[in-house]
Amino acid sequence: MSQDVSRALDGKVMIVTGANSGIGEGIAREAAAQGAKVVIDWVSHPEATDKIIADITADGGTATGFQANVGKVDEIAKLIDFAVSTYGRLDVMVNNAGVEIGQTSADLTEDRYDFLMSINLKGAVFGTKIASDQMRKQGGGGVIINTTSVHEDWPMPSDLAYCVSKGGIRMLTRTAGVELGPYGIRVVGIGPGAIDTPINADDTPEQTAALRNAIPLGYIGKPSEMGKVACFVASDAASYITATTIFADGGLMQKPGAV
Ligand SMILES: NC(=O)c1ccc[n+]([C@@H]2O[C@H](COP(=O)([O-])OP(=O)(O)OC[C@H]3O[C@@H](n4cnc5c(N)ncnc54)[C@H](O)[C@@H]3O)[C@@H](O)[C@H]2O)c1
Repeated sequence: MSQDVSRALDGKVMIVTGANSGIGEGIAREAAAQGAKVVIDWVSHPEATDKIIADITADGGTATGFQANVGKVDEIAKLIDFAVSTYGRLDVMVNNAGVEIGQTSADLTEDRYDFLMSINLKGAVFGTKIASDQMRKQGGGGVIINTTSVHEDWPMPSDLAYCVSKGGIRMLTRTAGVELGPYGIRVVGIGPGAIDTPINADDTPEQTAALRNAIPLGYIGKPSEMGKVACFVASDAASYITATTIFADGGLMQKPGAV
């Protein structure tokens, strides 16, 4: 008998970093709907975390919040300890937290570079390391998902450090995927195109319209759509996928001359 896709994550313990807004929220909500016990990592806006937990709980799901800055390795360790002490184990780690700073090589500064890298890349590297340490301790098995971007491959001249961080996540995913394969731990990147989230809040209406026109499917993606991709990757349906990136960009990367 085939598995009930709607409950594909039943009983799985999942951490999502940067999960009280945008794509992380989309992943947390979808994972809870598919039966996962979700730990929502957050750094600001506790009321947003509370609202998501209340919604999930009202729908019969299981979620809790934990405040941890992924730029600090000791806070990532506390986040993972919290998930294990609350729900008994860790099955899926989603390194999703990220920031954009919009600096070119001409205006890039050391402090902004360090700020971005500590969240986008160091946070994902140590999230992968500490989560996989825990998964090995449990006897192996598990999934690590890194929210990367079309910009792991695709230059964005207006944001040098962001592209460098996502290029780094590309190699994190590939290298850790190869290292951890023998332990049954899969490491997969999800590569969104343009998604309607607070990270793009500063875009002008003209920029948004240009972006929409450049997307073959004709619209800017929704966090819930990224949630479905992440949950597919986390599920047993993706059992043979590792050390690679699944792009979900409405075709954007394949359109010559797009943005
Ligand atoms: N929206 C897009 O178009 C798009 C496209 C490709 C990739 N992404 C990636 O998706 C991920 C989520 O971004 P989003 O678009 O949902 O924007 P978002 O701003 O809603 O989400 C980013 C989240 O990270 C959190 N965060 C920031 N600093 C943190 C820290 N030090 N520790 C823990 N959490 C922290 C923020 O509070 C926020 O909840 C990012 O990695 C981003 O690079 C977004």
